[in-house]
Amino acid sequence: MVTRRTFVKGASLAMGIAAVPGVVGCSGGTTHKEASMDMKFSELIEARRSVRKYAKAEISKDEMAKIVEEALNAPSWKNTETTRYYAAIGADAKAKIWSEALPGFNAASSENAAALVAVTFVPGESGYMGDTPADELGEMWGAYDCGLASSYFVLAAKNHGWDTLIMGIRDTAKVKAILNIPEKEILTSVIAVGKSAQPYFKNPRKPVAEVLKVV
Ligand SMILES: Cc1cc2nc3c(=O)[nH]c(=O)nc-3n(C[C@H](O)[C@H](O)[C@H](O)COP(=O)(O)O)c2cc1C
Repeated sequence: MVTRRTFVKGASLAMGIAAVPGVVGCSGGTTHKEASMDMKFSELIEARRSVRKYAKAEISKDEMAKIVEEALNAPSWKNTETTRYYAAIGADAKAKIWSEALPGFNAASSENAAALVAVTFVPGESGYMGDTPADELGEMWGAYDCGLASSYFVLAAKNHGWDTLIMGIRDTAKVKAILNIPEKEILTSVIAVGKSAQPYFKNPRKPVAEVLKVV
């Protein structure tokens, strides 16, 4: 199994960070699950990048559950928590998703991923007052919550030593059929979770002045 120590060291080298707190005291052979040194949040959000090349790895049901448990800390409309996760960690389910439900480029980018996680939300709850949409955004509040939950999920995964790729380009009907997702749930993305086999790469971002107006 890839160790958390290896992951943190790799990430810190790629980021040009000389030392990450906790690395020195970490004994060899410690798995990333057992390691106790969480990255500083600023390092974590810098280190989380979309990964499109994965090394072979497997993730346990327990570790996936832990990541989702942490992602459940995400805020949501009136704490409705309408986001749902369908994690394919078995070879057969993943092979079906790769061959039937993802376009070639996303299947190639997520090849070898330990998990392919379909993220959905239950409509008619977030953004609603009873049966009535609370405002003009209506169902978009469910998608808003689902996006927030997804960001918590990818950051929690990164903190556990797993890289991710959010894939919004997918075949909805096929994903839902393969993973037996209830008809009424709305699928947002399929998130690949795996061990990166590519160098750290940061997609450039807009200057803050372009997106922030302070009055
Ligand atoms: C809603 C959403 C859908 C996305 N869909 C895809 C996709 O289908 N395929 C892909 O390769 N990347 C996809 N991405 C990843 C974005 O391209 C990526 O987040 C963006 O370029 C910023 O790079 P970074 O994640 O490395 O910081 C998606 C991201 C989001 C948030």
